[in-house]
This record gives sequence, C-alpha cells and structure tokens, in this order.
Amino acid sequence: MAARLFEEQEHAALYQKYRPTPPAEIRNLVLNYLQRKKGKPFGLAVDVGCGSGLSTRNLAPFFEKVVGIDVSGAQIEEAKKMGGLNNVSYRLGLAEELEFEDGSVDLVTAGTAAHWFDMEKFMKEVHRILKPKGCLALYCYRCPFELRYSACPEPLTQIVQEMFKALAPYESEKRQIVQNEYKEVFDAITFPDKERFDNIPFKRQVSISWVIGFIKSLSYYQTFQKKDPEAAKASLERMEQKLLQAMGVSSSETMLEMRLNAFCLLASKPE
Ligand SMILES: C[S@@+](CC[C@H](N)C(=O)[O-])C[C@H]1O[C@@H](n2cnc3c(N)ncnc32)[C@H](O)[C@@H]1O
Repeated sequence: MAARLFEEQEHAALYQKYRPTPPAEIRNLVLNYLQRKKGKPFGLAVDVGCGSGLSTRNLAPFFEKVVGIDVSGAQIEEAKKMGGLNNVSYRLGLAEELEFEDGSVDLVTAGTAAHWFDMEKFMKEVHRILKPKGCLALYCYRCPFELRYSACPEPLTQIVQEMFKALAPYESEKRQIVQNEYKEVFDAITFPDKERFDNIPFKRQVSISWVIGFIKSLSYYQTFQKKDPEAAKASLERMEQKLLQAMGVSSSETMLEMRLNAFCLLASKPE
C-alpha cells in the first residue's frame, strides 16, 4: 500500500514553503544523461511523488510537457496553486499504476520519493511507459544536513545531530532505504544499463526559521508531532535557541548555510 504520510493540507503547505528545489547539479546530470542515451526531442517528463511540485516545475524549461503525479490530494492541490507554467500539470495517482500510454514518456523522475514506492510494480510501469532509450532518474539527499555560519569556526553539527536523535524513534522503516543511499532501490532497477552518482554536494542560504520549517516538513517530525506534540514542539524550540546562542544572534531570520549531500540513480530502457 502507498505511503500515507503526506496527506494533510498543513503538511503540504510546509512542503511548498520549506523544501529545497532540487539542485541544478542533479538536473544537469539527468538532462545530460537523457541527451546521451536517447537524445532530443525531450517530449514528456513524468515526475512521480511530485509533492508540491518543486521537482516538477524544475524540469519545465527543458520538456514540451511535464506531468507531476502524487498519491496525496493535499500535495497535488498545493502544487496546482503555484500555477504559471503552461506545460506543467499535476494529477493524483500512484507510482505503481502510472496512467500513461505505452512507450510515450522520455523521462521518469522521482525526487526524495522512490523509497516510498513498491519498486517491483513501479519498475513494471516505468518499463511500460518509457520510450526505447527513455530514462529513469531517482534522486534523494541524506539527513542530517550540515549548517555553517561564517562567524562560527565549527559547523553547527552537534545541534543538528541532537535534533535528528530526537526524531529517530519516529522514522518509518522506509527511511532506512535513504540511509542506505538507495542501495535496494538501485538493485530493484530492472534495466541493465544503470549507474549511480554519489556525494553530490549542494548548498542553500537559508534562515534559522527556514531550517525549523524544513524539519517540520519531514514525515518523521510529523509522526513525532502526532504522537507527542509537546515534546515535538519543545525539541524544535530547543534547536532554535541553541542555534541563536551558538551563532550569537537574536533574530531567527539570520541567514546561514545549509549543506546537503545528494545521490542520484540513472537508468536507460533497452532499445
Ligand atoms: C518527500 S516527498 C517529495 C516531493 C517532491 N518530489 C520534492 O522533491 O519536493 C515524497 C512524495 O511522494 C509521494 N508518494 C509516496 N508514495 C507514493 C506512491 N506510491 N505513489 C505516488 N506518490 C507517492 C508522497 O505523497 C509525497 O508527496
């Protein structure tokens, strides 16, 4: 059964506000791979587990059409609210039942989503809908992330680690797939032509408030909040206070650098 941890409207709104757009490094890697394996034209891209559409809109300038699919109605609603791009649309749907014609899709992507899928069923669908030499790109990034502030000699690692220690009991077992950097996902890709790219660093300038919002958007923080709302709130407040103190500032709008490490699996359907 599909994961139902992203259903609530409030959670979807957090996604829209506090998730990083996938880095240009990954987008370029995927586009270069597609160019190398299949070549132009780039007709249709399908972004599965699109959430609020950050990963979907990111592909818009490069394809004739991009469709975002998600099992969560709240996420699809949030994505549709963004509007503004004529070649992008969103649909409610399952990774395991992709409603596209056989051999009609150039690229299937999933950003921070494939660990939730039934990979066997998903791969059957990917195989069916991709054009010959069409490509699959599955990427994700690791947590904990690193925070750096220019006036602090050391990264603010310990504060972040403490937060993730508090979240650990609320992680779904699917998170283990991310911690294993998608080893199982890679093994489950049935196309013989496949490769992986690890340790793709990317940075964002963000405020302390944004970091707090990002943590709130994590599915395991949402589980923590449901099971023990007081403790969940207190853990975030503690983190915020510790960051302010370590950075020697009084405003949570102070900017700092967030460093993440991504990995990306790429595969191409046989001819
Ligand atoms: C962590 S979010 C990623 C959102 C977006 N791709 C991004 O990069 O910001 C994972 C999304 O996958 C969706 N999802 C989980 N299992 C799914 C499935 N079996 N079929 C379709 N979507 C699924 C969830 O509803 C959620 O919106």
